[in-house]
Amino acid sequence: MTAWTRLVVGFLLPQLLVASPVPDAAPDSVKVEQRDDESVDYQSPPYYPTPHGGWVSDWAEAYEKAYQVVSNMTLAEKVNLTTGTGFFMGPCVGQTGSAPRFGVPNICLQDSPLGIRNSDHNTAFPPGITTGATFNKELMYERGVALGEESRGKGVNVQLGPAVGPLGRKPRGGRIWEGFGADPVLQAVGGAQTIKGMQSTGTIASMKHFIGNEQEMYRMSSIITKGYSSNIDDRTLHELYLWPFAEGIRAGVGSLMTAYNDVNSSACSQNSKLLNGIAKDELGFQGFILTDWLGHYSGVASALAGLDMCMPGDGAVPLFGDSYWGSELSRSILNGSVPVNRLNDMVTRIVATWYKFGQDKDYPLPNFSTNTQDETGPLYPGALFSPSGVVNQFVNVQADHNVTARAVAREAITLLKNDQGILPLRRNDSLKIFGSDAGGNSDGLNSCSDQGCDKGVLTMGWGSGTARLPYLITPQEAIANISKNAEFHITDSFPSDVTATSKDIALVFINADSGENYITVEGNPGDRTAAGLNAWHNGDDLVKAAAQKFSNVVVIVHTVGPILMEEWVDLKSVKAVVVAHLPGQEAGNSLTDVLFGDYSPSGHLPYSIPRSESDYPDSVSIINQPFGQIQDTYTEGLYVDYRHFINANITPRYPFGHGLSYTTFKFSNPTISEATALDSAYPPARPSKGSTPVYNDSIPSASEVSWSSTTFTRIWRYLYPYLDNPQSITASNDYPYPEGYNTTQPEPRAGGGQGGNPAIFKTAFTVQVQVTNNGARKGKAVLQLYVELPSSLGLDTPSLQLRQFEKTKELAPGQSETVTLEITRKDVSVWDVVAQDWKAPVNGEGVKLWIGQSVADLPIVCVVGGQCSFA
Ligand SMILES: *[C@@H]1O[C@H](CO)[C@@H](O)[C@H](O)[C@H]1NC(C)=O
Ligand SMILES: *[C@@H]1O[C@H](CO)[C@@H](O)[C@H](O)[C@H]1NC(C)=O
Ligand SMILES: *[C@@H]1O[C@H](CO)[C@@H](O)[C@H](O)[C@H]1NC(C)=O
Ligand SMILES: *[C@@H]1O[C@H](CO)[C@@H](O)[C@H](O)[C@H]1NC(C)=O
Ligand SMILES: *[C@@H]1O[C@H](CO)[C@@H](O)[C@H](O)[C@H]1NC(C)=O
Ligand SMILES: *[C@@H]1O[C@H](CO)[C@@H](O)[C@H](O)[C@H]1NC(C)=O
Ligand SMILES: *[C@@H]1O[C@H](CO)[C@@H](O)[C@H](O)[C@H]1NC(C)=O
Ligand SMILES: *[C@@H]1O[C@H](CO)[C@@H](O)[C@H](O)[C@H]1NC(C)=O
Ligand SMILES: *[C@@H]1O[C@H](CO)[C@@H](O)[C@H](O)[C@H]1NC(C)=O
Ligand SMILES: *[C@@H]1O[C@H](CO)[C@@H](O)[C@H](O)[C@H]1NC(C)=O
Repeated sequence: MTAWTRLVVGFLLPQLLVASPVPDAAPDSVKVEQRDDESVDYQSPPYYPTPHGGWVSDWAEAYEKAYQVVSNMTLAEKVNLTTGTGFFMGPCVGQTGSAPRFGVPNICLQDSPLGIRNSDHNTAFPPGITTGATFNKELMYERGVALGEESRGKGVNVQLGPAVGPLGRKPRGGRIWEGFGADPVLQAVGGAQTIKGMQSTGTIASMKHFIGNEQEMYRMSSIITKGYSSNIDDRTLHELYLWPFAEGIRAGVGSLMTAYNDVNSSACSQNSKLLNGIAKDELGFQGFILTDWLGHYSGVASALAGLDMCMPGDGAVPLFGDSYWGSELSRSILNGSVPVNRLNDMVTRIVATWYKFGQDKDYPLPNFSTNTQDETGPLYPGALFSPSGVVNQFVNVQADHNVTARAVAREAITLLKNDQGILPLRRNDSLKIFGSDAGGNSDGLNSCSDQGCDKGVLTMGWGSGTARLPYLITPQEAIANISKNAEFHITDSFPSDVTATSKDIALVFINADSGENYITVEGNPGDRTAAGLNAWHNGDDLVKAAAQKFSNVVVIVHTVGPILMEEWVDLKSVKAVVVAHLPGQEAGNSLTDVLFGDYSPSGHLPYSIPRSESDYPDSVSIINQPFGQIQDTYTEGLYVDYRHFINANITPRYPFGHGLSYTTFKFSNPTISEATALDSAYPPARPSKGSTPVYNDSIPSASEVSWSSTTFTRIWRYLYPYLDNPQSITASNDYPYPEGYNTTQPEPRAGGGQGGNPAIFKTAFTVQVQVTNNGARKGKAVLQLYVELPSSLGLDTPSLQLRQFEKTKELAPGQSETVTLEITRKDVSVWDVVAQDWKAPVNGEGVKLWIGQSVADLPIVCVVGGQCSFA
């Protein structure tokens, strides 16, 4: 498809017509339901003005450099850097205008969190959910480095990832596979490690989607409809959904992307409480905030609320050459409705971030096009009449990243069940392989745009969070390369003529897909509305048929998230279940690495596997209510995934964190020691802010944005900062600023550094455990630490919450490693909504730290102020 038809058919139509009800093919449509309006109690209070960036010492040098430049910029240059040039108006999925006088190029922003989207000679890494399942911090970092290197090599300034929201509140949610798992700490560690890795290469990471984007359907506002409102109470926001964002900011993330939806009936891209109050004040965010694509819904209001960049620049209806910002931002500066100091802060944040990651020195310009795979083509496809040139240089950025991609996919592989030690397979075992998920895409590699289909092995979900596969090693190819005794039936209907002997082992491949809302696959509009939590393509029937014929069945599952296994998991012949998550390009090799025993599996579930969908709270179902704004109220509060199952006394099929190995591990000598004393319930007072740049805040001369001052040839529909006759605009002195605009905010007591008050991140307790491989094969162990808080805090709190984890190195039989798990003040605190601060039990009294290999397997308990023992 051309860029144009892809835009219209693929993105705009579904977004604009999203008001039409999506057919609900779900047999148990109870999980796709309508809701009453519960918004009354959920409002977003105003929070103004925007705190200026530059007060954190880590960023001081970058802000000083930015100051030298921004103080000399004209209004046109400043507006240029805040506004995208328009949809399809450049090589990247979005780019800002430039400021050539200062060497600042059009800043290129490109998807995705798992590799460079719509490009070539790039690596298609496993997505977030797979990375989370490794529970391996070093690998998370290494993958981030590789991602950043590829972006840099293609000339991408800002890579649109990692995704740390959705958190996975809704098991049917379409994009839960882009994040790292249904727990704030797993999500936070995955996100922060990715950010650190990516940014070590000079690429700016963009953490998204801020916040509450837990379902795909009805996420977006347009001229016809309003996106849903995620109504989240303050404590739940802080203890669950905000936690990963706070850790990303603490890791120094350079940019933050807003979500499409509203929070408390105020759109995320113009919600002053979220942007000014929480991100920029409480969490001390120093980088810049941008919209999601076409998620910009107002001009003055979004600027005042703390937005710094709009993407791809277009206004309500894309490609008409208008914007809420661009020339309208110039106008609102000249007419006084956006204060000059707000624009100066916007631009300073952008330029400072560009300096912070060294992009002023030898950073490549884009050498690829997101719009076409041809070598030459229009430079601005959205312009209709555009100059042409070389748009793709086909630069190979893969280096040896396939090694990392394979390691992540391999270490994520989660063995749920292994009766009679049927795994690992021997190389001479007689194998019968079933399922289209073992093979390739029958229509060809990458034949579905943005991976919008489920054909062959499922390597990733669909939508903008994808990349083209440079090549794909299918399970079939990898198995065939190892086994001379394998018979393949790459079909989802069990063949009637297959013969079975008692020596045969049947490997049955099934999958479950989901993705972003602008593509519907097999009746699923992003969210799994039609498929529910079941395997696709009658996968349950395929397993059952194989289990009837063969006495040894191994089920291999590629899935975006929780999947139901009840129809077959207890069948006598189903001996093993392997969840290989979404493996990316190295699907086959990573799987055979484990199946044939070269490596022991060491992945653990990043969510629970339920017995029934009705085991979840009703409030986490997909809401289908096409008329009026959907009110999605988070009534389950903190009780999502395992927090809910434990609270409701429901035993899931497989608990969060579960994962077997081919070997076994013994834990010994657990110890706990105190690091920083928790001698008060609240942390020590925050430090005050450092200084921020001070500019001349007078309204600049209108001539700086006058078309008559320019000499270049204008490109039709391109977004510029210029106006005709701007001299006619006069500044009004009585512009109705939003309530509270004029006040100076007191510094929030929970703030004081990136991520919050630095005192909450000090290590409070250190736990050490000796891990010994007491089995017969080499392998890696994962230690998970869950906190149990005392009732003395007076708040209803989930009884177990993951707060730390570590993976050992590969231990040979008999070998030991001492693992250290550090717990901070924040880890044992609750969010006190009255004090607006983190509150811990004094001296940690009553806090218990549970350690083990899943939330349901915690043999060690350490009592703060006491000792560790075996429970
Ligand atoms: C949303 O409303 C709830 C309930 O009033 C409140 O606790 C919370 O702070 C609000 N959050 C935002 C971001 O406005
Ligand atoms: C602005 O530019 C001038 C020369 O072009 C330079 O000397 C000065 O340092 C720059 N910065 C400021 C803050 O004036
Ligand atoms: C604004 O950006 C455009 C490119 O997007 C560039 O052509 C123009 O020169 C820039 N304006 C200024 C004043 O730098
Ligand atoms: C100033 O311009 C902006 C952008 O066009 C507009 O939204 C706003 O209403 C104007 N304000 C005044 C006071 O004219
Ligand atoms: C493209 O990639 C090459 C190799 O990484 C790099 O040297 C170059 O600067 C990039 N950009 C352009 C516009 O050539
Ligand atoms: C991985 O990349 C290396 C270096 O580019 C290459 O030699 C090797 O063949 C690749 N592996 C696979 C499985 O394609
Ligand atoms: C595979 O080889 C082992 C010995 O190496 C033998 O015991 C076993 O029977 C063989 N299995 C098959 C299916 O041939
Ligand atoms: C096939 O297997 C051999 C030996 O295990 C290995 O060296 C080779 O890389 C494999 N080839 C592919 C394409 O995976
Ligand atoms: C501040 O900017 C205004 C408008 O450009 C200008 O008239 C004034 O001289 C500047 N003030 C200083 C102190 O530079
Ligand atoms: C701020 O308040 C002062 C005094 O009440 C008033 O004169 C001024 O116009 C206000 N400014 C804004 C931006 O509301």
